[in-house]
Amino acid sequence: MCVQPHKVSGARSLQRLLRCKYASGSKASCSRLVLGIETSCDDTGAAVMDETGTILGESLYSQKEVHLRSGGIIPTVAQQLHRENIERVVQEALDRSGVTPAELCAVATTVKPGLALSLGVGLQFSQRFVREHNKPFIPIHHMEAHALTVRMLHPVTFPFLVLLVSGGHSLLAVARGVRDFLLLGHTLDEAPGDTLDKVARRLSLRKHPQCFTLSGGQAIELLAKDGDRKRFGFRTPMGQTPDCCFSFAGLGTQITMLIKKKEAEEGVEEGTLLSCVNDIAAATQHTVALHLAKRTHRAVLFCKANDLLPSDNPTLVLSGGVASNQYIRKALMIITEATGLRLLCPPAKFCTDNGVMIAWNGVERLREGNGILPPDVDVSYEPKAPLGVDISAEVRAAAIRLPSIRLKIPN
Ligand code: KG4
Ligand code: ZN
Repeated sequence: MCVQPHKVSGARSLQRLLRCKYASGSKASCSRLVLGIETSCDDTGAAVMDETGTILGESLYSQKEVHLRSGGIIPTVAQQLHRENIERVVQEALDRSGVTPAELCAVATTVKPGLALSLGVGLQFSQRFVREHNKPFIPIHHMEAHALTVRMLHPVTFPFLVLLVSGGHSLLAVARGVRDFLLLGHTLDEAPGDTLDKVARRLSLRKHPQCFTLSGGQAIELLAKDGDRKRFGFRTPMGQTPDCCFSFAGLGTQITMLIKKKEAEEGVEEGTLLSCVNDIAAATQHTVALHLAKRTHRAVLFCKANDLLPSDNPTLVLSGGVASNQYIRKALMIITEATGLRLLCPPAKFCTDNGVMIAWNGVERLREGNGILPPDVDVSYEPKAPLGVDISAEVRAAAIRLPSIRLKIPN
């Protein structure tokens, strides 16, 4: 993004635009209203929210089924589908809320990180919208939004530890404020959701009668329920690296090699459902859960050693699409119970991408008067954008060894 959207103090016209409490509609009584728009990947989402975090109306169009059919997200297809749906999705959110564009106080839109072609559609739509209706614009960092969603539902005060796991990211950070994060670790190659999606594709889970409408991660979770996680032992990544970074590509390779071996043993072609598919799903999910749990355990110890979390009610927040996974939640629960933290996860529908989390991030910014732009400022999207200040090298230098914890995750 070319603009650094810090506090726009002296902008008197912006202050005037922001003094827009609406007492008109019954639902929207005396509260500033935000429209949130999300198009960073394959979901077109919009929501209208008031300043208390009440969702007045929302709409979500998921491209999942189209991408499942084509075997992965094709950026030009995602762009085309966002273009075809954004107007309708935003209008639906407005209609359901009974709010007119004139009654909005600001528009918040994801501008980073994500797929360039997808981000571009949401940004272009939003900039046209805010100029037409003369509304302030709040550019949103998608991972900041995932991290803050929990505050819409629970009174969680800063600082807290957050593990964000999705199709594009895997990171551990200390959330110190709405726009203030310390990045403890991030993925060195691919994200866990991406790995789960690839494994699901390689296993042709779309041909499975229970899985054809599910995302890769959802399909693996469902099949793992009836699988033996011990039948195939995959190596947990980065066992010898005492930091909080992640790596999933090597695990993906281990799984692909096993699948090839099993296809040869069963005498079937690639694309055929293997008889041991449940066991592969269970072992995959278990290894992903172990990796996430171990890195998070070290992050908790690093935070404790450096006084980064409050002694009263220290909290781990787990969010992002992969955080919908109940088995992964249970693995993290073992870590938080052993270390005296409380674990909070938004419900699954707020873990995966949606317009509500973006509207909420807009509300958080509005309350702080931070990162709000006048309608005429040009903003560019950023496909890659780290979250906060990266201190992963310090975490690595601390080389914290993990005490052994029995990670007996209940199925
Ligand atoms: O946060 P999200 O909706 O989009 C990104 O920002 O990437 O996350 C989507 C990812 C996909 O890779 C999907 O397979 C994964 O989240 N996912 C799951 C589950 N539900 C969605 N992974 C594991 N278990 C689930 N239940
Ligand atoms: Zn996401």
